[in-house]
Amino acid sequence: MSLNYKFPDGFWWGSATSATQIEGAADEGGKGKNIWDYWYQTEPNRFFENVGPETTSNFYHQYKEDIQLMKEIGHNTFRLSISWSRLIPGGRGEVNPEAVAFYNNVINELLANDIEPFVNLFHFDMPLELQEKGGWGNRDVADAYRDYAKECFRLFGDRVKKWFTFNEPIVPVEGGYLYDFHYPNVVDAKRAVQVAYHTMIAHAKAVESFRSFNIEDGKIGIILNLTPSYPRSNNPADLRASNIADLFFNRSFLDPAVLGEYPQELIDILREHGQLPFTKEKDKDLLKENTADLLGVNYYQPRRVKAKEHLPNPYSPFMPDWFFDNYEMPGRKMNKYRGWEIYEKGIYDIMINLKENYGNIESFVSENGMGVQNEERFIENGEIQDDYRIDFIKEHLKWLHKAIEEGCNAKGYHLWAFMDNWSWMNAYKNRYGFFSVDLKTQKRTPKKSAHWIRTVSGHNGF
Ligand code: BG6
Repeated sequence: MSLNYKFPDGFWWGSATSATQIEGAADEGGKGKNIWDYWYQTEPNRFFENVGPETTSNFYHQYKEDIQLMKEIGHNTFRLSISWSRLIPGGRGEVNPEAVAFYNNVINELLANDIEPFVNLFHFDMPLELQEKGGWGNRDVADAYRDYAKECFRLFGDRVKKWFTFNEPIVPVEGGYLYDFHYPNVVDAKRAVQVAYHTMIAHAKAVESFRSFNIEDGKIGIILNLTPSYPRSNNPADLRASNIADLFFNRSFLDPAVLGEYPQELIDILREHGQLPFTKEKDKDLLKENTADLLGVNYYQPRRVKAKEHLPNPYSPFMPDWFFDNYEMPGRKMNKYRGWEIYEKGIYDIMINLKENYGNIESFVSENGMGVQNEERFIENGEIQDDYRIDFIKEHLKWLHKAIEEGCNAKGYHLWAFMDNWSWMNAYKNRYGFFSVDLKTQKRTPKKSAHWIRTVSGHNGF
């Protein structure tokens, strides 16, 4: 069969998810509470239609069936996360044997079906007790995280070869400490910077510990939401705005994770505004010596920026947005349900940037996807005809293919998500899966895209 877009042999076809978003069983199996369980108890109104994380998509009980479905649609890889508060309730101390059994079962089931597990250690789900001690704002939490990571490498490292320290570490910084969409709902840039910094320290400590295990063929990395900043124009004021947005939202994690150091320009801006974090003398070496082997790239939308229209209110809290305004490009293509622009070429621009400025680090698209509301209206013969999702994936894959042809070191593509899952404050508003999930019966039904991806993965292209 002749293909227009053939991907390199061994390309990783799969999907991604996170513990809180699919496991459910939040009060079962000895799991401790995390910030999502707590926030939902205290402010259920913050969640779409008051749906919380207690049951989500029931993967805890249906993982075997789900893994069969993954196999049926040609997955050769699958990313999950371990729930810290399930494995070590309270975040520190004794390991929960029921959690060990669960994750062992999932990993073994994946391997028995020739699906390589990619395991992420933290996906927004801080154990509540550690948040009460200050969360990432408290440096001791970075040590607790290192100990948790170490347990994971010890328990599962004989079978899991691809590890990730964090998924989108900037999101808890933005949500929890700047823009009020994650617990603890603080608005304080200085704390946000400290939280971001300690997250990177935790990352480096976990990488250091990983290396001491000498896991054969083992790789460790981080997953970042790289949202390219596109200036409205080439006017120097717009260029400056986009450069600063890039420093705050991409390079703040990308540079230390891959190059082992923070961009000087970012340090200068933070210093000028009195926002630098507390650091320790040996941190520089720690970061330099523990860079990532592998980078996951989550890409959903670009960030378009322009120079500020008005000077920021000097009495308002310091924000990254003091340096740029968001720009609504006329005629931009939108996913109106999520409110995100669709710009497929972004994936190519990210990959070229990694090639040119980040040593062409081994990478893959670790999340990309399209959340759509009320998908039932597209049901025909019992299945959702999600042609829009197929187009979305196809157009992104074309750009990824071009990047690979031009020498980018991209190894795979994971959709967000395998099945519909719970999405933080949006709960089940927007559906992302190859499989739809009936929330009453927990029945999974393939969408048209599930059949399509099976062919793509089977042919290694389209
Ligand atoms: C990514 C996250 O930011 O985007 C996922 O890693 C998330 O956890 C996904 O679910 C889609 O975003 P949302 O907010 O629509 O769930």
